[in-house]
Amino acid sequence: MKDVLVVYKSRYGAVERYAKWIAKALECEALPMDQVKTATLLEYRMLIFGGGLYMGRINGIAALTRRFQELKDKTLLVFTAGLTEPTDDGYYTFLYTRNFTEKMRKQIHFFAFPGAVDGQKLGRFHRWVMGMAMKERAQKDPANAQAYLEMKMDFVDPKYIEPLVEKARGILQEWDEKKRRQEEIRQQAAEQPEEEK
Ligand SMILES: Cc1cc2nc3c(=O)[nH]c(=O)nc-3n(C[C@H](O)[C@H](O)[C@H](O)COP(=O)(O)O)c2cc1C
Repeated sequence: MKDVLVVYKSRYGAVERYAKWIAKALECEALPMDQVKTATLLEYRMLIFGGGLYMGRINGIAALTRRFQELKDKTLLVFTAGLTEPTDDGYYTFLYTRNFTEKMRKQIHFFAFPGAVDGQKLGRFHRWVMGMAMKERAQKDPANAQAYLEMKMDFVDPKYIEPLVEKARGILQEWDEKKRRQEEIRQQAAEQPEEEK
């Protein structure tokens, strides 16, 4: 069985940037969710899913939740990119509860990263939704009103992947250590004189 795969769904590229940085740090592949079959997911021990936040939902997360039974023995990490600040615990608790059942929450390690938006790249409906949200923010935070109203923000930065990469590396190291210990025990047993066995 292979160790780790990054799978992502990205509408305008923020999640894709994070997915590729994570894959590079962990020396594994990053594949768009739409190209991945269940059989491929089952080949890995650890799966890292990424999706953008859209109206309180994690884009593409159904690809994970509808296969949850099949993935019950996997180590699962989920990351999001969104414009709500990752320090907003109230929002992310709501989001986490809304997108995952209690059973799923016990199995998932969750990470929230800052996202990006470029009004000029948005489709019509998305521009309308974002327009309303940004108007509200501009009123609450007049000093940055211009950036909100232009809908041009990019908070994506590789530094944010660190906690996730650290978590994944820790788990991978534990697995390596366990494998090494099992190998040692096997070798000791093989080296024992026949009469002591
Ligand atoms: C229509 C629309 C709805 C959004 N809804 C949310 C939201 O509910 N919460 C949030 O934090 N960010 C929200 N965002 C911001 C996106 O999550 C952000 O742009 C993210 O970087 C998108 O990642 P992607 O381009 O990889 O899909 C929304 C953006 C758009 C365009």
